[in-house]
Amino acid sequence: MTSQARAAIILAAGQGTRMKSLLPKVLHPVGGRAMLDHAIDAAEGLGCERIVVVVGTHSPQVRAHVEARLGAEAVAVQDPPLGTGHAVLAAKAALSGFDGQVIITYGDVPLLKAGDIEGAFGGEGVTVVGFEARDPTGYGRLLIDADGGLEAIVEHKEASPDQLKVTVCNSGVMAAPAALLFDLLAEVKNDNAKGEYYLTDVVELARGRGAPTRAVYADEDAVMGVNAQAELAQAEALFQKVQREMALAAGVMMPAPDTVHFAWDTQVEGGATVEPYVVFAPGVTVAAGARIRAFSHLEGAAVGPGAEVGPYARLRPGANLGAKVKIGNFVEVKNVRMDDGAKANHLAYLGDAAVGAGANIGAGTIFCNYDGVFKHRTTVGQGAFVGSNSSLVAPVTIGAGAMVGSGSVVTQDVPDGALALARARQAVKPGWATRFMAMMKAKKAQKS
Ligand code: UD1
Ligand code: CA
Repeated sequence: MTSQARAAIILAAGQGTRMKSLLPKVLHPVGGRAMLDHAIDAAEGLGCERIVVVVGTHSPQVRAHVEARLGAEAVAVQDPPLGTGHAVLAAKAALSGFDGQVIITYGDVPLLKAGDIEGAFGGEGVTVVGFEARDPTGYGRLLIDADGGLEAIVEHKEASPDQLKVTVCNSGVMAAPAALLFDLLAEVKNDNAKGEYYLTDVVELARGRGAPTRAVYADEDAVMGVNAQAELAQAEALFQKVQREMALAAGVMMPAPDTVHFAWDTQVEGGATVEPYVVFAPGVTVAAGARIRAFSHLEGAAVGPGAEVGPYARLRPGANLGAKVKIGNFVEVKNVRMDDGAKANHLAYLGDAAVGAGANIGAGTIFCNYDGVFKHRTTVGQGAFVGSNSSLVAPVTIGAGAMVGSGSVVTQDVPDGALALARARQAVKPGWATRFMAMMKAKKAQKS
């Protein structure tokens, strides 16, 4: 009897050449998160105490990604890639001493969730996750006996004409006790159409020794694999569909859901409104009663209750908006805390700052936060009023209730309640324009 501890082996050593991409395949994002991270999330969701990712030597980026998230002990290198069975064997050393259940998943199957494959655990033998394929071309077929038991998996290239008619396919996900799995893999040979060591051969080998084999089933969409850009886009579309349905079910008012793009971790509370063509990059929370207006882009931002953002606003990481804050069109906000009721309604850049409650930042204002080498902070006190087209050259503080005259370039702190004017004094010359125009017109008449 093996222990019921769980481990996962995630295969990610394939080259992914069909992506025709500069990025390794498994690092391509779905919902703003690398496909490989989705696979690791599922393994963690299953309660796997050990997770090993099998990587190839061709992608140091993938290795670095796994090391950063799970540590160096989670990496197993397969060199060269000689098939899925060979890939799983490459993880054997990393799992030495582990005697529980092992589940095998793929780094390029981004929509699979823990709940979809929980049923694969628990058997004493080999369990394969199958699915009913709309188009089985290319997949391994599950051969099911009269009693509903799993006899074997036959790869597309090896299948007979009758076997090719089978539409129940192998998702690639498989679970088995560690000792049995590695025992069986030691017997797998590569005398097949691709000259590879097929993981799928362990089913027949298990049967041969009288070990139990069975299939459990998942939804085709959940197990879809990504091999080319078109499939990545398809996975993204399926992912977005689910996110939109969840947002609507939670009570988000979203009149054109198909135009709204969510990230894997977007949190919009019920009672918020999201207008058409809004894009949520990762790390965004939106509170109830807030309204995200059309064509806005948000990333790493928190939007407070009753706040209004956009249309055409950009919230970048660290934008933290309190209740009833207003960020209007063509305003960019980065790493700024805006306290309750603060406003920046038109055409402004607010970066690295704290803006007090009820402060008003006029149209065209720029927080000049960068001197070419360092970033500096701007502080605007509660209830301050910054006139239009001002430049606040950080580091600088505008006091509570202070005013900045329109068009000022502010380089020194402004005390509470003071008015700062930092612009050329206006000169008025009576009659000058009339005389000037008359003179110029006379010159033109002389020339022609
Ligand atoms: C595999 C299955 C097939 C199943 C299909 C589901 C086998 C022999 N076939 O076929 O039954 O229907 O997946 O999509 O298992 N990989 C490695 N090292 C290798 C080879 C592959 O890490 O040497 C990884 C790949 O990166 C990929 C996964 O394993 O993530 C599957 O490999 P792939 O070559 O795409 O297998 P298929 O031929 O699609
Ligand atoms: Ca594949």
